[in-house]
Amino acid sequence: MSQMQNIQWFPGHMKKTERQITACLPLIDAVAEIVDARIPQSSRNPSLDKLLGGKPRLLLMNKCDIADKVATDKWISYYRANGVIAVPVDCKTGKGTDGFVKAVKLLLADKLRSYDEKGLVGKPLRVMVVGIPNVGKSSFINCMSRLSKAKVADKPGVTRGNQWFKIDARLELLDTPGVLWPKFDDMSVGEKLAFTGAVKDGVTDTELLAVRLLEYMSREYPERLEERYSGVLTADCDDAYELLCAIGKRRGMILRGGEVDTERASVMLLDEYRGGKLGKITLEMPEI
Ligand code: G4P
Repeated sequence: MSQMQNIQWFPGHMKKTERQITACLPLIDAVAEIVDARIPQSSRNPSLDKLLGGKPRLLLMNKCDIADKVATDKWISYYRANGVIAVPVDCKTGKGTDGFVKAVKLLLADKLRSYDEKGLVGKPLRVMVVGIPNVGKSSFINCMSRLSKAKVADKPGVTRGNQWFKIDARLELLDTPGVLWPKFDDMSVGEKLAFTGAVKDGVTDTELLAVRLLEYMSREYPERLEERYSGVLTADCDDAYELLCAIGKRRGMILRGGEVDTERASVMLLDEYRGGKLGKITLEMPEI
């Protein structure tokens, strides 16, 4: 895990992105910050607050289809109490995206009215979409523009050029200029980013990660484990590593000597979590 702490720190890249974002600020009316609804706090970059100054902002809680709805609602209330409008979206199906358009127009109603009063009837609102890699920025823009022109990156960190996307007569979106890295304030942030796949495998110890995910799940969502790997909770496991072995065994992942292939079981477990196959699971709750 110690390696994971190092990958946060690309001072050159981060400075470049900060400069690019700052340069775009005069061009836009508001910012849509996308977060992963399963880790709404850990998937934000805290330095963004300072960078964006007083720009009106909306928070998009993407991937709400694979987050725990009760938790998402709690986060939305939490943000509302802190003066931030948060909208749940699912860019796989497009669910919630009309809520986003409505929320932008409400947030910037004064601006729209002043454009109309000045006779600038066709002037669109311009919104910059920001977020750390893997939260679904490309998917969101694709989904919104319905033209599929935004290239969906298959790896976190793929830079795309600045581009405007026309959503309707009164709304245009600008993709994040540069790559906004997450901030690993503590180990648990890095771990949550790794659970969701925002930090790619190879940087972290897969088996340790799988064990940590199982520790969390057996505490917070034991029923989901039972649903997916029936019988594992009654397998009499003393700890999460034994649970991993029980899961591997259930899936027939046995090495030649008869031992469970825990490496394979770990990869499978993490893949299944990332793909939403373990159900709707949120990894952090707001501190109320
Ligand atoms: P980025 O631009 O912010 O880096 O993210 P991107 O859109 O590339 O999305 C990252 C991954 O998250 C993609 O999966 C994408 O399909 C998935 N994703 C985006 N939005 C949603 C959503 O609302 N719900 C769910 N369940 N998944 C979402 P991938 O495995 O990298 O690619 P693929 O499976 O689409 O091929």
